[in-house]
Amino acid sequence: MTTIPVILDVDTGVDDALAILFAVAHPDIEVLGISCVAGNASLERVVDNTLRILDTIDAPDIPVAAGARRPLIEPARDASHVHGEGGLGTLRLPPSERTAVPVSSVELMHSLLQDSARPVTLVALAPQTNLALLLRQYPDIASKIERIVFMGGSASVGNATAVAEFNVWHDPEAAAIVLDSGVPTYMYGLDVFNRVAVDEATATALLSHETLVGRTVGSLLTNRVFAGTDAETHHSGLIGDAGAVCALVDPGALYTEIRPVRVELAGYGRGQTLVDMRSRPGEDAMHGTADVWETAEIALDVDASRLATLFLDTLGLA
Ligand code: RIB
Ligand code: CA
Repeated sequence: MTTIPVILDVDTGVDDALAILFAVAHPDIEVLGISCVAGNASLERVVDNTLRILDTIDAPDIPVAAGARRPLIEPARDASHVHGEGGLGTLRLPPSERTAVPVSSVELMHSLLQDSARPVTLVALAPQTNLALLLRQYPDIASKIERIVFMGGSASVGNATAVAEFNVWHDPEAAAIVLDSGVPTYMYGLDVFNRVAVDEATATALLSHETLVGRTVGSLLTNRVFAGTDAETHHSGLIGDAGAVCALVDPGALYTEIRPVRVELAGYGRGQTLVDMRSRPGEDAMHGTADVWETAEIALDVDASRLATLFLDTLGLA
């Protein structure tokens, strides 16, 4: 199989770290570069976490750039209650000798896209601020993008709010710009994100794995997510963002539909991805009051154990 050239956009984060490890390890994925954005943690922490994670898998010299330190409109609002103050849960890694490139994420993505002989897949695993800025500053670059595969949104439940998923909630305008850009998009939302997990026994056993990658993955998978205000914790074992990267190499493990989708920008539903699941037009269309929505490929179901096994197998941990 020919490799898939990708650029990752991350807010490393526990599950972004899992995604980076998988993307670097999989033989059919060529990571051209990594773009960082504030989200789970501050921009500085995201960049530093990304560099340290690349060290744990002895990754090649992949360019890493710092991007937006806040969303387009609102201030940054981190997810430290899930990812910990440092962004990697309880995982502690040594400082990296690697450094970020001296250009912004937009400039790195733009140059990588321009220089690539083949269209590139953008894999957005974070608030989409950097992608929105890229598409606004260089609209013609869209022709060099194969598609945008993003972890974000939901056709059902939220997490940041009752209806909105964190990445889209953090920067709804950015997500709307991306979805309305005309670039083919694939939404790996909470409908599948919340289901792909590694069981507690397997994850715990990895904590004493013979390899640094194994112990790192074990620590990330056993990160305790605060279930509620009483600080109760539970094992989730979710591979999170890594599932969106797994979908690149095993699309058959997911069931998708092409559906109209839009981002709600106002009211309590701000940040919600509204997915139109109707089988026929409604009265709004009949009476000429319907807006035209862009479509996206929406992941609605997943063979969760197949994707979790792919993740562990690829890292030599199954
Ligand atoms: O809602 C989950 C998403 O928000 C994941 O990408 C996680 O890393 C956070 O960025
Ligand atoms: Ca993320």
